[in-house]
Amino acid sequence: MADALISVLLERLASTTYEYIGGGVKLVLNVKEDVEKFTQTLRVIQAVLEDAEQRQVTDQAVKIWLDELKDISYQMGDALDEWNTAILKQQVEKQEREQNALVPPNKKVCFSSFSRCFCFGQVSRVIHHHKIAQKIQGLNDRLTEIYEERKKYQFLHKELGIQQPQQPQRPPTASYVNMSEIFGRENEKKVLITKLLTDSSEGGKGLLIIPIVGMGGMGKTTLTQLAYNDDRVKSHFDMRKWVCVSDTFDEIKIAKAISGDDAPSSNELDYVLECMSKSIQGKRFLLVLDDVWTHHQKKWEQIEIPLIQSGAKGSRIVVTTRIHEVASMMRAKAHMINLGELSEQICLSIFNHMALSDRDVHQSKVFGDISKEIVKKCKGLPLATKTLGSLMQNKRTMREWKEVLNSKIWDLEKVEQEVFQPLFLSYYDLAPTIKCCLLYCATFPKDYEFERDDLINLWMAQGYINLRGNKDKGTTGDTVFDNLVARSFFQEFEKHPKNGTITSCKMHDIVHDFVQFLTTNECLIIDHVDCATSESKVLGDKVRHLTLRYVPQGPLPLPYNCKKLRTLATFDSRITTIDPNLILQLKCLRTLNLSGNSIKELPEVIGELIHLRNIDLSHNRHLKKLPDTICGLYNLFTLCLFKCSKLKKLPENIGNLINLKHLYVEECSDLESLPRGIGRLTSLRTLDVFLCDGDKEEALQVGDMKNLNLEGSLEILLVADATDKSEVERAQLWEKKLFDLTIDFKRQTNSISSVEILNALRPHPDLESLEIWNHNGPWPNWIQSFHNLRFLTVCRWTVCELWPLGKLESLETLTLWGMVGVKKVGVEFLGLEDQTSFRVRSPQISFPKLKKLTFHNMCKWEEWEGVEDWTKEDSEITIMPCLSELRIVDCALVKALPEFLFKTPLQTLDILDSWTLLERYQHGNREWAEISHIPNICIPRMLPRRQWKVSQDFCYDPKHLHFPQMMVTRSAHL
Ligand SMILES: *[C@@H]1O[C@H](CO)[C@@H](O)[C@H](O)[C@H]1NC(C)=O
Ligand SMILES: *[C@@H]1O[C@H](CO)[C@@H](O)[C@H](O)[C@H]1NC(C)=O
Ligand SMILES: *[C@@H]1O[C@H](CO)[C@@H](O)[C@H](O)[C@H]1NC(C)=O
Repeated sequence: MADALISVLLERLASTTYEYIGGGVKLVLNVKEDVEKFTQTLRVIQAVLEDAEQRQVTDQAVKIWLDELKDISYQMGDALDEWNTAILKQQVEKQEREQNALVPPNKKVCFSSFSRCFCFGQVSRVIHHHKIAQKIQGLNDRLTEIYEERKKYQFLHKELGIQQPQQPQRPPTASYVNMSEIFGRENEKKVLITKLLTDSSEGGKGLLIIPIVGMGGMGKTTLTQLAYNDDRVKSHFDMRKWVCVSDTFDEIKIAKAISGDDAPSSNELDYVLECMSKSIQGKRFLLVLDDVWTHHQKKWEQIEIPLIQSGAKGSRIVVTTRIHEVASMMRAKAHMINLGELSEQICLSIFNHMALSDRDVHQSKVFGDISKEIVKKCKGLPLATKTLGSLMQNKRTMREWKEVLNSKIWDLEKVEQEVFQPLFLSYYDLAPTIKCCLLYCATFPKDYEFERDDLINLWMAQGYINLRGNKDKGTTGDTVFDNLVARSFFQEFEKHPKNGTITSCKMHDIVHDFVQFLTTNECLIIDHVDCATSESKVLGDKVRHLTLRYVPQGPLPLPYNCKKLRTLATFDSRITTIDPNLILQLKCLRTLNLSGNSIKELPEVIGELIHLRNIDLSHNRHLKKLPDTICGLYNLFTLCLFKCSKLKKLPENIGNLINLKHLYVEECSDLESLPRGIGRLTSLRTLDVFLCDGDKEEALQVGDMKNLNLEGSLEILLVADATDKSEVERAQLWEKKLFDLTIDFKRQTNSISSVEILNALRPHPDLESLEIWNHNGPWPNWIQSFHNLRFLTVCRWTVCELWPLGKLESLETLTLWGMVGVKKVGVEFLGLEDQTSFRVRSPQISFPKLKKLTFHNMCKWEEWEGVEDWTKEDSEITIMPCLSELRIVDCALVKALPEFLFKTPLQTLDILDSWTLLERYQHGNREWAEISHIPNICIPRMLPRRQWKVSQDFCYDPKHLHFPQMMVTRSAHL
């Protein structure tokens, strides 16, 4: 942990800047030299950390030394941060002066009035900077002492080290396995053996590579052993070899292992490879490379090429690995077998086999129930199950069994040694930054669903990764996240419906136990603490991240001694008030998450927690306002205010938050407008709802978007008529790299201006997803030029006609919702050129990419016109060739589906609350035949007309009954 922490700090030290602090402050400036000296010293210490980390386990003195080092590193991080904050403050003040110079004197607003606690004059500023400089100097001295002290321990020096400190080693595996002791994995075994035996080698090359991927302890090796020893497999191959690769991918060692008895004694790579080639020449071989970590393409190819060239057709390589990139590196993803958790039933069989097999029937019965409970703790991980099973082998009494059941799993030494072992291997293989990021996950409770973007922001808040990140070094937030995914630390992914990126995931319980084990002293989760008990709780002085769960209604309870906290988060809590004196202690805080409580007011002193990067106050339904002092938190990066439904306004000076990158105000239903100062936040990338009230001069206007570098997703909520076209054009929306845009005319009554505004809101041509709500004029004039548009939702429009949307060549999902003026969906909707009047009949495709089509709540819609009367027989038109889902909900009058639909590859058809259609397509009717070929149909059974009432539980396959997601997410605006 110290190792990771210090690498991260060193990167920060390297990028410290000293500009800005000029003028009268020069005299205190030996800061630069101090920081440089500190950096040098730390570099030298870094070289012994690996050894120190190993030794601290057994040597208490080393542990104390390391703790001291960590503490100083943290403090240095804080000092640098104070330094930076001072620079930021100067920037803000400069901006204010410039801003003020533009405003006529009579309208001058005093921007700085709020910053009582930051009110330094020139003199006090010098003193302030002097203090920081002194602090840095002090830390420097202390570090020097630590540096001297290290000599006492005679640590192994990394570069000089003759002998590297021992990293945990994986015991070598062999191919032997006792078949009668394997449970489960029948399916995977079948798949694997089929891949081994079937003679369909790809692309002409006679060699197929089959990667088996899964987290440590999931049974990859066991599965491979099973297949390796299968009799059919044995007789199918001329030659089988099992090579345990593990941590270093040593081509020579591997090649020699393949050559077996023919291996040369030379270590000349070329020669060794040649011998290897000879030994497999013309043979159909099966090679197992167990536990591969490298994704070093060159190294791999050196071995791969001779294997391909020499082996006979039908040869196979099975590779087990816990890193997905290994499969990609070998270009073998198509044949990858992913190993997931075992069922509880199978785990129970394993456990009982290990724990109870040599006991009498009576004993087995007695421990039967408790077995089940213990197995639950293993969460489908075969290794954990086996370990616990073997642990129980010599436990005879109920008391002993219960002890295991009630202990935290990592307190069991055997678990630490055996189950965590494979995880340790994965962990040590991570870069320092990624280690820090992984460990931070220990601040969340088990089974928590991590959101990619939130988690990245939290990492940034702690300074593990910075804004710029370094893509090559893999230190951008996204690469860290993807790395943890690829190494099986995360699982159960949710993918973004629009672009397939993994947006959220969970952590396997055992992995969570493991990170908690590694952070025992630093991350703490306390349940059910209230004010009465909190004072008696003394926090260990190494706790940096505190998570409180189930706090009862009342004040925020903070244990005594929490000055060092960098994270404070609550889960499932009902805090109502916050004592200013308590929160004032938290001077090092980076992340404050008080989401989901019932806080009415945030104390003003929050403005003094200058390191704060991330504040989450979402779902505080009683919060009416934020203190102005929050605008002095120049480091603030993320401010989440989702669903603070009573929040009336944001602080005027919010424009001072020059680092603010993400501001979330969705579903703050009482929020009438946003302050104009937001227009100055040039760092802002995300503002989920751009709320504009054209009636109020002091409120944010659409045009204020001009200076914001918004990207990604945006919702523009126009709450009044007054906005005019020129104001909207000033925003230059087409310049913003948005791929997802929602425009909602919340209170627009005048249809002329509504369409003018919509026309002026022409988005970036790369836009992929568009929603337009509550528009009461015709279609915008730019719609036809959106060649990249993949998702379109139009909702609650008053128009009677549909634009020829069939022309949008990239459109994949179309939702028409509440288009109450539409009586007929005519043939023009398809966007085809009229065949009768057109001379040249070129082939045409309407809606070439459309997959999902939804009509919802179109109460006047009666007719959906087909193309029968309209096209000549010999015309070549194709309509919706990719359509797979059609959903018609709440469209009571529409009579029939057009015939062209029955020629599409429709997979799912849902018709709900659309009586006329429902009646027509009932099971058993003549018309049923037209749709009966569709695999998933949801058409509720109709009762006789008099008793019309829907019985929604009647669906042909209830699994496929989902309502459009919009219904949930947008309901607040409906
Ligand atoms: C394989 O396991 C079974 C069941 O545990 C046991 O009876 C048998 O002796 C084992 N065979 C060998 C060779 O270890
Ligand atoms: C996918 O969409 C999400 C959410 O809109 C966005 O944050 C992410 O950057 C997108 N990913 C790609 C690869 O476009
Ligand atoms: C804050 O905590 C809540 C649970 O109380 C969690 O759902 C949310 O994701 C957290 N916010 C951030 C930004 O981590």
